[in-house]
Amino acid sequence: MLWATSPACTELETHVLDWLVELLGLPEAFRSEGPGGGVIQDSASSAALCALLAARDRASGWETNRTGLAGSPPLVGYTSTQAHSSLEKAAMIAGLGRDGLRLVEVDGAFAMRPDRLEAAIAADRAAGRIPCFVAATVGTTSSTAIDPVRAIGEIARREGLWLHVDAAMGGTAAICPELRHLQDGLELADSYCFNPHKWMFTNFDCDAFWVADRAALVRTLSVLPEYLRNRATESGAVIDYRDWQVPLGRRFRALKLWMVLRWYGAEGIRHHVRRHVALAREVARRVQASDRFELAAPVPLNLVCFRHRAGDAFNERLLERLNGSGDLFLTHTRLADRHTLRLAIGQTWTEARHVERAWGRIEEEAARLEAER
Ligand SMILES: Cc1ncc(COP(=O)(O)O)c(C=O)c1O
Repeated sequence: MLWATSPACTELETHVLDWLVELLGLPEAFRSEGPGGGVIQDSASSAALCALLAARDRASGWETNRTGLAGSPPLVGYTSTQAHSSLEKAAMIAGLGRDGLRLVEVDGAFAMRPDRLEAAIAADRAAGRIPCFVAATVGTTSSTAIDPVRAIGEIARREGLWLHVDAAMGGTAAICPELRHLQDGLELADSYCFNPHKWMFTNFDCDAFWVADRAALVRTLSVLPEYLRNRATESGAVIDYRDWQVPLGRRFRALKLWMVLRWYGAEGIRHHVRRHVALAREVARRVQASDRFELAAPVPLNLVCFRHRAGDAFNERLLERLNGSGDLFLTHTRLADRHTLRLAIGQTWTEARHVERAWGRIEEEAARLEAER
């Protein structure tokens, strides 16, 4: 719970998160030697909540931290219609309410439209509300859409909003230098998170969360009762991660992350990530080459969103049949208000032959269903 109760636990966490800054090419501001730093949270939902709480308190001049929301003009935040539901949950918990999080329209590739963000901020200011937070997503849940972080960050800087970047799954890709352009503009972010438990071969749970200015986060979440006072904390020379998260006590998640990094090594992780992206692109190529299927979204990473051309009911039936067979497991979403199938590739032991077999089963089952119509 404190540096003093387990210095090794704290120090390893700081060390591993500094390693990741280097490994993923993240902004220098996220390093613990400067004003920022990283912490491991249980999930991307918790990271978003902590970011929003800090954003809220900073925007109110720390008044909401002292007196709560009563009496303050309504605070509002922004994210895209494609953002994960955890952002909405964070808005509810932070007291902004569901309506206090504006869902900004996306473009044809399901990425947030900066012009619509600007318009929404202007409308809120005109109505006397206080915009305090914007969350961009690098790899949305439904389709791995990539929000334009730089354009959103420039608006956030100009307007004084806290920018949080949620790269829960997509963030792992930054270990490959050729994929880092997907999060160009990250130096404009106040906070950033990704989940090693999603695509970095780490057992659940493990979310890596960084802030550019740890003072804002600590000021938001710190409470110091007598029974937690100790000399190390008072020296100001150590990190007490209890002030960087909601719970007091915490698990030693850094150990498994350290183990993963040591076991695979940077090249090992890169090897798997590149393989997964290449396999997903191969599936996308097959979808495009097929007469019966169509791609439902671009494929920047390891998720292929596609659908049969025969419509929603057919796709629902196809998904049910494929998953019921036990041969493979696909998930679904709605994109452009149409039922969409999702094939994600992200595990250590998934090989080309598995993906080929999966695609073969999809084609086979689709042909069978077509014949039954
Ligand atoms: C983009 C994105 N953000 C956040 C989350 C929530 O992750 P967690 O389960 O770590 O809270 C997900 C999970 O699917 C996600 O895809």
